[in-house]
Amino acid sequence: MLTVTDLTKQFGGFTAVNRVAFELQEGELLGLIGPNGSGKSTIFNLIAGTLPPTAGSILFRGREISGQNASRVAHFGIARTFQIPRPFRRLSIQENVALAAYYGQEARPSREQAFAQAKEALELVGLPADSAARADGLGAAGLKKLELARALATRPQLLLADESLGGLDHAEMDQAADMLAGIRDKRGISIIWVEHIMGVLMRVVDRCIVLDHGEVIAAGRPDEVAHDRKVIEVYLGTDAGDVQATVAARTG
Ligand SMILES: Nc1ncnc2c1ncn2[C@@H]1O[C@H](COP(=O)(O)OP(=O)(O)O)[C@@H](O)[C@H]1O
Ligand SMILES: [Mg+2]
Repeated sequence: MLTVTDLTKQFGGFTAVNRVAFELQEGELLGLIGPNGSGKSTIFNLIAGTLPPTAGSILFRGREISGQNASRVAHFGIARTFQIPRPFRRLSIQENVALAAYYGQEARPSREQAFAQAKEALELVGLPADSAARADGLGAAGLKKLELARALATRPQLLLADESLGGLDHAEMDQAADMLAGIRDKRGISIIWVEHIMGVLMRVVDRCIVLDHGEVIAAGRPDEVAHDRKVIEVYLGTDAGDVQATVAARTG
């Protein structure tokens, strides 16, 4: 579904993303992990059209999308969440999501359709579907759900979810991981999930890619990656045992 080749982004003389290559299959839940500053959000910005790449290619269902602007990429069927949610704080939860449905799709829905699609997206993330409450009344977990609902309301084929768990407690994180896996299962949406907390992510993803200093240092199934020497060295350290145990306890 998505083929990334030789993707590179330089900011001045600094290379944030260096010749990254990977593929994503239809319906796959792929984890993108790596230390802070390793280039994860930049890769999302390059795919979503927020930033143009310095070099490289991004094929989405056979179409070259690198360098396209963000609204066109959204209309192609790619939605992303932002690490820091910035809803329209004084609008209602429902209106925030309906706006995404209205502007984020190539075929613009009617007002009624947009609100119906918003309702569906809110149900998927477990927020009250008729919520007239203002967005600025939400706590950290609620804001993350709203961010996800806004992306889903554009009815994407590919969802890029950026570090959606920061600020959540452990039970909330597990819940969020199950929610993403559930959305993939129910909607058949392909998902790339950037998450800093590797144990939580490794419990549900099909495959993951590990970045360090803008380069892919490992890619594979969670059990492979959790035992990879380089990954343990640069990323897991003393947490390696815990992450390996989490992966070993997976049922799927
Ligand atoms: N717009 C930008 N201008 C300059 N440097 C940037 C910009 N965006 C990101 N960077 C730098 O690129 C590197 C990768 O950042 P980022 O992709 O946000 O990392 P991650 O999401 O993995 O934490 C960091 O060193 C960051 O400071
Ligand atoms: Mg980031």
